[in-house]
Amino acid sequence: MTPKMAEVNVTGKVISPSRMAHVVLRTPRYEAMVAFYTAFLGAHVVVRTPVIAFLTYDSEHHRIAIAAVPGCGEKVRGSAGLEHIAFGFGGLAELAAAYVQRRARGMVPVWSTNHGPTTSLYYQDPDGNLLETQVDNFDDPAAATAFMLGPDYAANPWGVDFDPDHLVRRLRAGEPEAQIKRRPVSGPRAIETVPIFNPPPPVVRDSYEPIEGAV
Ligand SMILES: [Fe+2]
Repeated sequence: MTPKMAEVNVTGKVISPSRMAHVVLRTPRYEAMVAFYTAFLGAHVVVRTPVIAFLTYDSEHHRIAIAAVPGCGEKVRGSAGLEHIAFGFGGLAELAAAYVQRRARGMVPVWSTNHGPTTSLYYQDPDGNLLETQVDNFDDPAAATAFMLGPDYAANPWGVDFDPDHLVRRLRAGEPEAQIKRRPVSGPRAIETVPIFNPPPPVVRDSYEPIEGAV
């Protein structure tokens, strides 16, 4: 229920947003970034000018905007700021199917891991911005939090890595999603072993259309 202005307690807790609305990325390679995000998210361009494009994939009028800001330089590795943007999927099969579809378009993850609370595949866009695609491993957020407060997570807050093709094979074989989503027990893990903190150079493709023979 939205409060009326007269009812607002100015010194009370600040009213939280109702949702995360969109992300705007500045880029030195406008064409490639628009093509990448359109393909990566199964999105469409709502409005496009020579310098900014607005994309969406749901009921929001735009979720991602790409801006060709004059003078924009390359992304600086190691600078402060946004680490990654995460996109949630409705189920493990959807997440894995989107992986297969992206792979067919030349987009492959730089890291695949079971964090415990989520099963996650990480990608890089053409500028090197990191994107997470994830599915919740627990139906109840409280159960996810409980896992993150437990001993396995304390020893390894990063995740237990997996081969996404193996994930696809397990799903195709009919293994229950709940079983696949359970994070295997592991020992301690150092931050230096986490690929997204030292990712390979980003790949820029001429096209993000399906590649013949890639499926
Ligand atoms: Fe994340």
